[in-house]
Amino acid sequence: MIRETASERNTTIPWSVRRATAADLEAILSIQKECPEAPDWSSSIWRRTLSGDQTGHPLRVCFVAVEGRLANRGGSLLGFSAGCCAGELSELESVATSVSARGLGIGRALCSRVMEWCREQGAQATELEVRASNEVALGLYRSLGFVEQGVRRRYYRDPIEDAVLMSADMRMTADATEFREK
Ligand SMILES: CC(C)(COP(=O)(O)OP(=O)(O)OC[C@H]1O[C@@H](n2cnc3c(N)ncnc32)[C@H](O)[C@@H]1OP(=O)(O)O)[C@@H](O)C(=O)NCCC(=O)NCCS
Repeated sequence: MIRETASERNTTIPWSVRRATAADLEAILSIQKECPEAPDWSSSIWRRTLSGDQTGHPLRVCFVAVEGRLANRGGSLLGFSAGCCAGELSELESVATSVSARGLGIGRALCSRVMEWCREQGAQATELEVRASNEVALGLYRSLGFVEQGVRRRYYRDPIEDAVLMSADMRMTADATEFREK
């Protein structure tokens, strides 16, 4: 199958990325429900993540993509990403784009923002795990500079499946994380 890249597609939905706030909770949960491949975080985990409390360890961050060129104008939510950082190590914990907004470069932008934030916190590397069958996410992560480091056998449930462990060297990935909002 031939697939256009995001930049070749006629992207008619303008969108932008901003830090998530507590007011985004319901919309994030609704996108998470659409995306069984994403980690199934409870509303209490999200509430803590979105509270803006930066005293915890590790530090956590969450970004959202919203419809419209002005991120703070209250357009509907198109996707989210979350990550955490503890010293030199960081993790891209979750990313999801609403089914109706896929293939527009939003997932790439959301991952890039988390990686950029991790770099700003002083991380030298970002790690993640992904279902072995999730070819779309694997392609996205590889294109952002993530390299496979190993496999965790039967790590996921419902259905049981291996996790592929990946990591990106933050000193090498600055170019890959550049993106343009549409
Ligand atoms: C993975 C996911 C976030 C990608 O979001 P998206 O907004 O569609 O991604 P983008 O448009 O930014 O595309 C980024 C890259 O993903 C890959 N990709 C996207 N759609 C694809 C498709 N249909 N087939 C193959 N690869 C695809 C490509 O590498 C693409 O780069 P390219 O367009 O330059 O070729 C989205 O498919 C999703 O939400 N999936 C469910 C949740 C999930 O799997 N999360 C990851 C595990 S935590």
